[in-house]
Amino acid sequence: MTLSARLSSLVPPVLQPQAFLRVRAALFVVALLPLARLLYLAFSGSLGANPVEFVIRSLGTWTLVALVVTLAITPLRLATGWAWPMRLRRMFGLFTFFYAALHLIAYLWLDQWFDLAAIWKDVLKRPYITAGLASVLLLVPLAVTSSNGWVKRLGGRNWQRLHRLVYLIAVLAVTHFWWQKAAKNDLGEPLAYAIVVGLLLGVRALRWAQRRYGSVDSSANSSSTVSRRRTS
Ligand code: HEM
Repeated sequence: MTLSARLSSLVPPVLQPQAFLRVRAALFVVALLPLARLLYLAFSGSLGANPVEFVIRSLGTWTLVALVVTLAITPLRLATGWAWPMRLRRMFGLFTFFYAALHLIAYLWLDQWFDLAAIWKDVLKRPYITAGLASVLLLVPLAVTSSNGWVKRLGGRNWQRLHRLVYLIAVLAVTHFWWQKAAKNDLGEPLAYAIVVGLLLGVRALRWAQRRYGSVDSSANSSSTVSRRRTS
């Protein structure tokens, strides 16, 4: 029995509309739990000795987790044949943006008190801040164009091309985490994320190479046709 067949016996590849809505609502609530926990800890005065650091780090972690979940959906479909998780990709993508925006706001507000000169200095001085900022800025066009209206306006192909920026965002996000922890010689967690993100992007690279190999083959044929014409 293949993995796909085994999983299909546990979860149907197609969900009825009502069941899908229930799954989506449950996952929406689950995705809000990290924020609810943070608010609970803040209001109960349990954020620890360094509350600002705790809030920034917690929001950073959940941004990365949301990004990994978003990137895992296509490989999940490929492994299981389930189509319905693909309809959750936009929601997780928007949660990634939501947590990234909160993480950025926490930094700008709680850490820097909106002191623009100090922020600019920090962006130039600390490469991990530069990488983090770049990834959030790149997330903005993806969040703005996430609606069906934008898919129509841009055309499916252009929309897909634009949304491939998420691969660069993932690399920048892991680099941000890596550089931040490298300064403290604590690379265990960033290494785990780098491996997971590497595997998730690797699946795409493999599919791209398979498609490319096909087209390389045909273009090789056509270029050899051109060279044959030239030499004849
Ligand atoms: C997609 C974008 C981003 C992701 C995925 C992300 C992720 C993370 C992660 C995982 C951490 C470490 C959490 C830990 O220590 O356990 C972190 C820390 C941090 N990030 Fe980000 N981040 C992003 C964007 C940004 C931006 C735009 C800024 C500021 C301009 C920023 C500033 C910081 C700071 C100041 C820390 C804490 C450093 C410390 O306490 O030593 N991040 N981020």
